[in-house]
Amino acid sequence: MCGIFGVVSSEERVLGPVLIEAAQRLTYRGYDSVGCATLHADGHIDLRKDVGKVEEVAARLDFAAMKGKRGIVQLRWATFGHPSQVNAQPHFDSDGDLVGAHNGNVVNNVELRAQFMAEGMIVRSENDGESCVHAVERYVNQGHDMLDAIRRAFRDLEGDYAFIVGGVSENTLYAFKKGSGLVVGIGEGVTYVSSDLPSILPLTRRILRVRDGEIAVLTPETVTLYHVEDGQPVKREPETVTESMDWAQKGGYAHFMLKEIHEQPQVAGELLHLLDASSDVDAVVARMREAHHVYVVACGTSYHAGLLGAVYLARLAGRPVIPVIAPQFIPQYAPAVNSHDFGVFVSQSGETKDVLNALQAAQRRGMGTASLVNVIGSTLMNETDLYLPLACGYEISVPATKTFMNQAIAFLYLALRMGGHDTGIMAQVPALLEASLAQLGPQLAPLEPALVQRNDLYCLGYGATYPIALEGALKLKEVTYAHCEGMLSTEFKHGPLSAVDDDYPVIFVAGSGDTDLIVSGINEVAVRGGHTIAIGVEDARLRANARTLIRLPESNPLFVPLAATLPLQLLSYRLSVARGYDPDFPRNLSKTLTVD
Ligand code: G6P
Repeated sequence: MCGIFGVVSSEERVLGPVLIEAAQRLTYRGYDSVGCATLHADGHIDLRKDVGKVEEVAARLDFAAMKGKRGIVQLRWATFGHPSQVNAQPHFDSDGDLVGAHNGNVVNNVELRAQFMAEGMIVRSENDGESCVHAVERYVNQGHDMLDAIRRAFRDLEGDYAFIVGGVSENTLYAFKKGSGLVVGIGEGVTYVSSDLPSILPLTRRILRVRDGEIAVLTPETVTLYHVEDGQPVKREPETVTESMDWAQKGGYAHFMLKEIHEQPQVAGELLHLLDASSDVDAVVARMREAHHVYVVACGTSYHAGLLGAVYLARLAGRPVIPVIAPQFIPQYAPAVNSHDFGVFVSQSGETKDVLNALQAAQRRGMGTASLVNVIGSTLMNETDLYLPLACGYEISVPATKTFMNQAIAFLYLALRMGGHDTGIMAQVPALLEASLAQLGPQLAPLEPALVQRNDLYCLGYGATYPIALEGALKLKEVTYAHCEGMLSTEFKHGPLSAVDDDYPVIFVAGSGDTDLIVSGINEVAVRGGHTIAIGVEDARLRANARTLIRLPESNPLFVPLAATLPLQLLSYRLSVARGYDPDFPRNLSKTLTVD
């Protein structure tokens, strides 16, 4: 997830240190490249950028010495175009009179670049941030003022993004928000604009939150907001933020895990935009279609997403897929695979040693490979033939939440595409996740007293909800330190049922179409006194048989496993906090396991 920051000062001064520090505060979002532009009073623009860490690039290109009245800094997390000096941001327009940078994704970037080139503009990179600048340039060239040009550019730029742009002719920066975050800060004779609050708070506590569809016009003394649709000014008073930096970094949530759980509707939407625009989806589908055998290889949470992917691919595309935990791939399958086989390697970090070992074993046998990774530029992404990004931004909390969701969504998307179904239905997913999150709090609160002291519970599912039960159990284990086992619901009677006594908690994740089986399982536990908790859409039999029903909104049955993930994430979080633990950094665990 990129980050942008801009400053407008009444005096020409050294802006480098302010820009470097803002960039450092944005690094938590994840990035591969960094760039600074300063706009001098005499009309000269100084632009320096490259791939690498903020400290290293800033030292090499001497950002600290950069002077001007206005400055922009950008951290890039590659999606369109590989990490490279030319794709790093900010970008110039054709003749270097405008400079700008963006955060987010312009999904019609490829079409726009072709248009800009046909119109005679100089396009230097593959990056969609450059398209934001040319989209404004197009209308400035036609004689529109900057505000008007941005209003028109907005109609051309599809996707979710925020951008900052400035020109040589006036001491102003313009910022526009559609989907991605944007906050303005107001100091004495200086104003700031940024992707987030934490990068502004050390500079000023007077802030204005920009909403979707608004343009902020910053001069050293004033900030004016305008509606992009009609160009009318927006009336909003600045607020004074008194909360701590820690609060701001967590986006107002008590923990990163909770923040990341609530980011899922947004990152799901961003991923779907990317997949809609990506040619690599068809490339991966074609390789899976041609292959003799397809493997899905991963560890931990990513393995659970792969398991769900296998269910979706069989059901929607008629493609049998073999999900396997990465280290087991080596003895069980690697000796038998060859160049006619294909593997999808799934990993949030792209650095899990167990997964990389399996990849090497597969490649030694000539197997074709693709990866589903969150961290762009990671080893797994670089070493596989094809990759699809997860587009979640940086996931700080050790327990994976939003990356699991986007892995599951990516698999469902691939399965729909491979089966020749309409991927357009996926557009319903972000709103479903939003609606689910909104109604879960009051339903989960009454469960807390019954579960908070339990050190032993089960989480069961069947078919597409079996992976969700495994993932829910893993989340509960990771953050509550209780023993929680995920299992196929039908297996419970073959042994574990002996553990059930009064109030013993068993969670059942009910998928649409599997209610009969789930209700049988519920009754086997209920008659022995167990506390049965069902997660599913409203159903008279579930309600009549389970002691507690956690109700999900009605949806396409394909999406029920996605929505059912949320109560298990939230329940894990709440029980962890209630037990006095830090869910972001559970004891003994590491976000990225680069050891055997
Ligand atoms: C570690 C983490 C888990 C994660 C697993 C796989 O064990 O603690 O949360 O699911 O690694 O990580 P990956 O980055 O490959 O998805």
